[in-house]
Amino acid sequence: MSDRKPSWSDLHKKLFEKNSLILTVGILVTVSIGGIVEIAPLFYLDSTIEEVEGVRPYTPLEQLGRNIYVREGCYNCHSQMIRPLRDEVERYGHYSLAAESMYDHPFQWGSKRTGPDLARVGEKYSDEWHRDHMRRPQSVVPESIMPAYGFLETSTLDYDNVSAQLRTLRMVGVPYTDEMIASAESDVRTQLDPFADDYDGFVARYPGAALRNFDGNAQRVTELDALIAYLQVLGTMVDFSTYEAEADENLR
Ligand code: HEC
Repeated sequence: MSDRKPSWSDLHKKLFEKNSLILTVGILVTVSIGGIVEIAPLFYLDSTIEEVEGVRPYTPLEQLGRNIYVREGCYNCHSQMIRPLRDEVERYGHYSLAAESMYDHPFQWGSKRTGPDLARVGEKYSDEWHRDHMRRPQSVVPESIMPAYGFLETSTLDYDNVSAQLRTLRMVGVPYTDEMIASAESDVRTQLDPFADDYDGFVARYPGAALRNFDGNAQRVTELDALIAYLQVLGTMVDFSTYEAEADENLR
């Protein structure tokens, strides 16, 4: 017995299992190697988010609508993140990509769903539907327990400081250009009026953005205009049609 060469397991028993201090140090060393492997790359990677075609910063009007969404606490009942689970994907559409909320400050993922997830509600309903729904949700969904937000339709949208807001968002990484910041205030009005003078400039700045009067009242710029503009863009920036064709192919 005694002339047997000491094995790793003997060492283990003698050194680590009989000496709690050495065992603790050993655990710390092992765990920190794992930690370094996971954490260190984050310091030299510029971004962990893969860029996806179509994702653009919100237009000034959409961004103001987003502020109203946050102000009114819509996130208390609605999430904005479709998880990659079959039931969610079948109900709401393609699961959310990180890139789709890369310009969201603060993000609205959430986990509280008293109402449905809104990550892909954009263009699901007409503006008229949203107007009716905000005035009195039960007029379109009789069993709804959502509160009414009729006052948004009569509240004038305050957008005096929208350029400053875009500038602030640029500080935290949203790629607003000087031109976007300079024209932010007029872009609020341009988005609501397809016949506006600066139509071409707006379309070049925000490709794919919807231009129309969202609340049905061309006389006033209301908070409802902004909120519907925001709801209608949710989940519509990325074109998933090729993905869906592929998925159908796989089912065949
Ligand atoms: C007390 C919880 C509650 C709050 C707060 C709330 N909602 Fe809802 N929401 C619901 C429920 C429940 C439904 C499902 C029934 C319906 O469509 O009204 C719903 C449905 C919706 C829908 C339709 C979704 C779909 O896919 O059919 C939209 C859009 C919506 N809410 C937007 C908002 C906005 C914007 C706000 C904030 C201004 C808000 N909600 C605040 C509970 C809430």
